[in-house]
Amino acid sequence: MDSTHDLIFPQKFLFGSAVAAFQVEGDGGKRKTDWDLFLNHHPTIVKPNEKGPEWWTQKNAEKDIQTMQSLGMQVQRLSLEWGRIEPEEGVINDKAIAYYKEVITYIKSLHMTPMITLNHYVLPEWIARKGGWAHKDILQYFTRFVALVLSHFSDVEYWITLNEPNFLLDAGYLTHSYPPQTGNLITGFYVRHYMIEAHKRAYALIKKNIPTSQIGIAFALRWDAPENPKDPLENFYAKALNYIENYNFIKAMQPADFIGCNYYTGYYLNLNFLKPRPSKNIDNRSIQQTKMFAELEKPGTYDTDFGWPIVPEFLLQLLRSLYKTFKLPILITENGLADKEDKYRSFYILTHLVAVWQAIQEGIPVKQYIHWSTIDNLEWLEGYRMHFGLIKLNPVTGERKLQQSAHLYSAIAKYKKIEVEKLMKEYLDEEQQKKALEVIKKLLMKI
Ligand code: BGC
Repeated sequence: MDSTHDLIFPQKFLFGSAVAAFQVEGDGGKRKTDWDLFLNHHPTIVKPNEKGPEWWTQKNAEKDIQTMQSLGMQVQRLSLEWGRIEPEEGVINDKAIAYYKEVITYIKSLHMTPMITLNHYVLPEWIARKGGWAHKDILQYFTRFVALVLSHFSDVEYWITLNEPNFLLDAGYLTHSYPPQTGNLITGFYVRHYMIEAHKRAYALIKKNIPTSQIGIAFALRWDAPENPKDPLENFYAKALNYIENYNFIKAMQPADFIGCNYYTGYYLNLNFLKPRPSKNIDNRSIQQTKMFAELEKPGTYDTDFGWPIVPEFLLQLLRSLYKTFKLPILITENGLADKEDKYRSFYILTHLVAVWQAIQEGIPVKQYIHWSTIDNLEWLEGYRMHFGLIKLNPVTGERKLQQSAHLYSAIAKYKKIEVEKLMKEYLDEEQQKKALEVIKKLLMKI
């Protein structure tokens, strides 16, 4: 296949975008979560004039979803904020449920498919104070919450039980970056166990209530490849780490109807730790996840605002490896970049979707592509400094502006095909066209 042909996706393939409740909602300060507490203790993350994540009032949520629909999106992923629905133990906020109901009904009224995430990192404050995912009664609390949700949303087909349990375990419980900042191996052991059980129980409950539902977990899957694939030790090391860190966890979290894959970036791992090279400008978050003994090297073409390299080739490798290991359908539940000026988003979307297309040609059942994110939002420790949205948001005025790259994504999503040449000419500058062509050729020639 040469790159001048149109790349056509199966008619049933769905395109969409995602948000998470805490990152876009505010609830007028009424919700009570561990992240609200955390932000109060770290007042420099959100600037006072940024007013906090107040933007997804019902009206604004509908406006943004309507924009997505007009771009041709078929899926809207969103999460429910537990600390908004149950701000105090056992006390249910009917207004919060009514809000989510209206938003989900609205999504359906636009003939889009809602996908609900039950937990996207954030916990109610009352649970956090007891130790969060490490508390012995967390399973009872979580299943009670899931049952409540199901009593209101039994018409939703796609569910994610937990968002990135592997990353949250690392950032919140094994290290100190996210709440509850436990940083303790023994706690981590319990947390992992409870997360696995929470998924299993939620899966069983959802299936019982909605037999046709499709349920999965969204995993944080950074792909770290050996820098020298011919070096057997490096090769083995990269595979073993991936297995220990991610695949083992995914295996334990069965059953699932699909693997939810959150892929953003990847690095080369090398074992040159005895001969350190000069600093490679790698961001803190990646360093934090740096693998024991190995060093990280940047592959790829461009870096995003977060410093994460753009490597669509690694997405293809990841998809192959996931399917080979789990033999389950795959939904890309997040893929995107921080890019305030929208310099590379068109390049990113185009090349990553070619990788997805190629995977499908190889017989890998990738069923959906969900871009992160619908709109700029509160990027956890970074506040509003990182811009992932197809819609750009001014966090002070609330003004929205559609990024140019959203039109490229729209041209692909609406017609379920990539007109490679045409899109490259229309959306990429000359240098990017050259680089995109190189990457695309590699992807289509199976790398
Ligand atoms: C998380 C999102 C986050 C995104 C970009 C994902 O790991 O699920 O909440 O905004 O990465 O950092």
